[in-house]
Amino acid sequence: MRLRYTLKGIETTNVLGNCLSMVLGPGDLFLLSGDLGAGKTSLTKAIASGLGIEEKEVTSPSFAIIHEHLNGRLPLIHVDLYRLGPHADITEIGLEDYFDGENVVIIEWAEYLETPLVETALKIDLNFVDEQSREVCLTGKIWIWRERFLLLDDCMKASDE
Ligand SMILES: Nc1ncnc2c1ncn2[C@@H]1O[C@H](COP(=O)(O)OP(=O)(O)OP(=O)(O)O)[C@@H](O)[C@H]1O
Ligand SMILES: [Mg+2]
Repeated sequence: MRLRYTLKGIETTNVLGNCLSMVLGPGDLFLLSGDLGAGKTSLTKAIASGLGIEEKEVTSPSFAIIHEHLNGRLPLIHVDLYRLGPHADITEIGLEDYFDGENVVIIEWAEYLETPLVETALKIDLNFVDEQSREVCLTGKIWIWRERFLLLDDCMKASDE
């Protein structure tokens, strides 16, 4: 099932990140894809901040591919595959070790993964509309995400009022 939003400005991306941080649980995997500069890192920062991780810790992991943030409500692992390019080999970077049922794992440039990791992942596709706005499409399997999509949508609507 799907949810779509137009994110008018970084503030709305921050709202989405905050709402996502409230519905996510241990072991969640978010796969972020879409246009260059569409707001993947911004969204990850907002999720981290919702988990109680200090803002200054979360920078785009463009040199280190994996950043661990262990001081929040849940451990957050932020991965950026951009530098690996297409056909990223996740066993090579040791990603599998993070899927322990506790870590929340967020992967930027997930379209570079050769094979889908798990079908329970939430796919988040962010795209450029214009300088001032972005579009986001969230896709998840209905039996995992239905309840949480309802909560997420309530949260988004509440902050719209
Ligand atoms: N909804 C939005 N509306 C307008 N600008 C936004 C929105 N969300 C993020 N931005 C801005 O877009 C720029 C790029 O954001 P960010 O670095 O998060 O993108 P990214 O998808 O991680 O980029 P990359 O593809 O390089 O990893 C930043 O200046 C950010 O403030
Ligand atoms: Mg980024």
